[in-house]
Amino acid sequence: MNAFRGKRFVLGVTGGVAAYKTAELSRLLAKAGAEVDVVLTEAGSRFVGAVTFQALTGHPVWQSLWDDRIGNGMAHIELSRGAAALLVAPATADFLARLAHGLADDLLTTLCLARDCPLLVAPAMNRQMWENPATQRNVVQLRADGISILGPATGEQACGEYGIGRMLEAPELFDELHAFLQPKVLAGKRVLLTAGPTFEPLDPVRGLTNSSSGKMGFALARACVEAGAEVTLVAGPVTLATPHSVCRIDVRTALQMREATLQNLPGQDVFIGVAAVADYRPRSVEAHKIKKSAGPRALELVANPDILAEVAARNDAPFCVGFAAESQDLEKHAEAKRIGKKLDLVVGNLIQDGLGSDTNRITLFAADGAHPLLPADKAELARQIVAFLAARMEKSRA
Ligand code: CTP
Repeated sequence: MNAFRGKRFVLGVTGGVAAYKTAELSRLLAKAGAEVDVVLTEAGSRFVGAVTFQALTGHPVWQSLWDDRIGNGMAHIELSRGAAALLVAPATADFLARLAHGLADDLLTTLCLARDCPLLVAPAMNRQMWENPATQRNVVQLRADGISILGPATGEQACGEYGIGRMLEAPELFDELHAFLQPKVLAGKRVLLTAGPTFEPLDPVRGLTNSSSGKMGFALARACVEAGAEVTLVAGPVTLATPHSVCRIDVRTALQMREATLQNLPGQDVFIGVAAVADYRPRSVEAHKIKKSAGPRALELVANPDILAEVAARNDAPFCVGFAAESQDLEKHAEAKRIGKKLDLVVGNLIQDGLGSDTNRITLFAADGAHPLLPADKAELARQIVAFLAARMEKSRA
């Protein structure tokens, strides 16, 4: 599924060193099958020349309000017509200020004002310029005006300083555009997820855990946000970055995960249990480090509560989705989990196909049978799971 094919984007480039990343972005978009029209400001052209963008996109670049290549002479109106989005990257502090005030004194600002497509901006500037109250005021205004702000990131800056203000990298901007293009099938819905492993302590330094990376749960949280949902993610101990706009609650043990889940459950439309919750925990936790001089030991374990089954058993249960990672007999075990835990949907996979990696091969098990998905990376699979569950929710409402 290629969300870019046949879509047209307008890329606005203002005067910043990060313009070189936009050249790379234009190449990624063109390679993905999108049409790209680049609008270069006078300052932008000091950093990357029009010829570069023309070669990468296969289209001549737009630079002047008075360009007569468009029949009616109104490039500032026509360029945004039919575009999937207008992205200004890099967007300088000066450009954000002009946009916030509705100025229209060159082709790009005029185009932004006259656009009839969504506008996204990727700020790029020195840390102090970004943190300056004037810039922050403008950013608040731009958000209120419905403009999406992508980044900026924190890192080393061209000026030699370190801090927030770096433009996102080209692949990150590409991902942001990809997310932006997703159908908003969960608009207005609230989704709660669990993800990652749990860690059941034995003593102050040791514990029982498993090798769940959390990647699938985080990819699903992101896919739910992309689909327009308000997302809360209860995460076991993982080092993954929190997806944009996700409210994350970090927990360690299964009991903490259960508590955070139940606390956040009221008002949720969907619950997705992705976490590899430890089925057992040590009966007691030693206050001090266990010494090996103590000789052989038996470990007494007690069962942890099944969070997903508990949620799905409630009278006010949301749409419940579970995961079944099995080492054999996938269909048998996944179906047993779906029926046993009273789930609306089970996402099944064979452990050897996915654990810890970025790709996976999964099958969706619902009341009407098994629906295998084509192998794909976890981000793409997450989008397909979201599309499937949204369609099911819609159907069960009808
Ligand atoms: N799950 C949960 N709480 C638990 C155990 C599992 O919420 N204590 C959820 C998982 O998040 C997953 C589903 O239940 O969505 C299946 O988890 P899994 O560990 O595969 O299944 P179990 O029911 O524990 O069965 P088994 O370990 O015997 O395969």
